Amino acid sequence: MLRRLAPVLLIIVIAACGRREPDDGKVHIRYLASPDVGGFSKVIIDRLERAHPELKVDMVEGPAAGDARENMYSTAFMGKEDSYDLAYVDVAWVPKFAAQGWLRPLDALIAPEKLDAFLPGDLEGSRYKGKLYRLPVQSDGGMLYYRKDLLAAKGVPVPRTWEELVAAARKTRTPSIAGFVFQGKQYEGLVCVFMELVWGFGGDLLDAAGVVRIDEPPAVAALTALVDAIHVDGIVPLSVLTYQEEETRNVFQEGRAVFMRNWPYAWNLMQKEGSPVRGKIGIVPMVSGPGGRSAATLGGWGFAVSAYSRHPNEAFKVAEFFASAESQKLAFLKGGILPSRKALYSDPEVLTAAPHMKDLGRVLAGARPRPTHPRWPRMSDALQMHVSAALSGQEYPADALKAAAVEIRAAAAR
Ligand code: GLC
Repeated sequence: MLRRLAPVLLIIVIAACGRREPDDGKVHIRYLASPDVGGFSKVIIDRLERAHPELKVDMVEGPAAGDARENMYSTAFMGKEDSYDLAYVDVAWVPKFAAQGWLRPLDALIAPEKLDAFLPGDLEGSRYKGKLYRLPVQSDGGMLYYRKDLLAAKGVPVPRTWEELVAAARKTRTPSIAGFVFQGKQYEGLVCVFMELVWGFGGDLLDAAGVVRIDEPPAVAALTALVDAIHVDGIVPLSVLTYQEEETRNVFQEGRAVFMRNWPYAWNLMQKEGSPVRGKIGIVPMVSGPGGRSAATLGGWGFAVSAYSRHPNEAFKVAEFFASAESQKLAFLKGGILPSRKALYSDPEVLTAAPHMKDLGRVLAGARPRPTHPRWPRMSDALQMHVSAALSGQEYPADALKAAAVEIRAAAAR
C-alpha cells in the first residue's frame, strides 16, 4: 500500500515545499507568456538581467491561445501554487483573477503620480473594485488591415461600413485571394472580433446597467452579417473557423487576402523585409453596420504579482522594468506591440520609425472594453461556443445568441 502511494506522497511533499529553484544565488522570477514572436521579450529580459544581476527571469513560452494560458494560471493559482511569481494577464482576466484573491494589490508599491503616464483605458482595465492589480505593458485594439494595391487596381475606396466592406471584397477577391479573413476559431479572439461588429451595428453584450443584450436585433444582425459573409457572399473562406491571430496574419502576409481583422502587432511583422505585402498595406478602424459606430475591442496585457509568490518585491521590479518607457519602446519598434504609456504616442523616434502610429491612435480612440466581470471567462465561453456554432452553420444566428444570452444571464446572476 505504502509503495503504491509513494509517488503520490512525493508529489504532495514537493508541491508543499513549493517550486525548486536553481542554486545560482539569484532570485528567479517566473511567468507564463505567449510564444515570443519577434523575440523582443528575450531582449528585454537580457537587459533586465544585466541591470539587475541579482534577478533571473524565467519566461515560460506557453500556448498561443490566451484561453489556454488563462487555464494554466487558474489551475496553478487554485492550488495556491507558487509556479508563477508574475502573471502576464489579459485585460479580460483581471476581474476574475482579482476577485479570486490570486493577485497582490499593487497600490502600495507604486506612487499614484507614476500611474498618470499610462493610457486611462489600460489603467482602468488593471483595476478591480478600486484596487490596482496590474501594470499595463501593452495596449491593444482590433482593426481592419487592407491591401492598398489591390483596392487601387480596381478603383475601390477603403470601406467604412460593413456593406462597403462586402462590396469591396467581392470586387477584389480572386479564386486564390480571399476577400476578408479574421480570427474565427472558438476562443477569446473570436469574441473580440464579434464584439467589434456588435458594437458597430449598434448593439451591446452587457450594458452599463448590467442588462444582457446580446440576443437583441443589432447583435443578431451582426452575427447574420458574419455568417452570410462565409456562407452567402463567399467573401470569407470557411478555413477562418480554424484561425487565431497568427494563422490570420500568415494568410494575409502571404498575399492571400484583401482584408484582415487583426491587432496592431501584425503590422511590423508584415512590413519586414521579405514580406510579400511589405509597403502594400493600410489600416483603418473596423467598419460599422447600420445604426452603429465603428469600435475596436480593447485588448491589452500587463504584469500582475501572484499572491502566492515568495518574491513579490522582486516580481514587481520585473513588472516595472517591462512597463518602463525604454522596454515599451523596444517592444513597439521590434515587435509592433502598442505601448500603454501615453508619451510614446508622440515620441519623435517612434513616429519616425512608425508613421502608422497616428492611424493606430485613431483605432485606440474607439476602443471599448469587454464586460468587466469576474465571471467574464464563463460568459466568453458561452458566446464563443454559440457564435462558432452559427459560423459553422450549426445554429441560426438568432437561436445561437438566444442560447448564449441564457448562459450569460445565468453567469451574471451567480
Ligand atoms: C489580444 C488582446 C487580448 C485578447 C486576445 C484574444 O492579445 O490583447 O486582450 O483577449 O487578443 O485573442
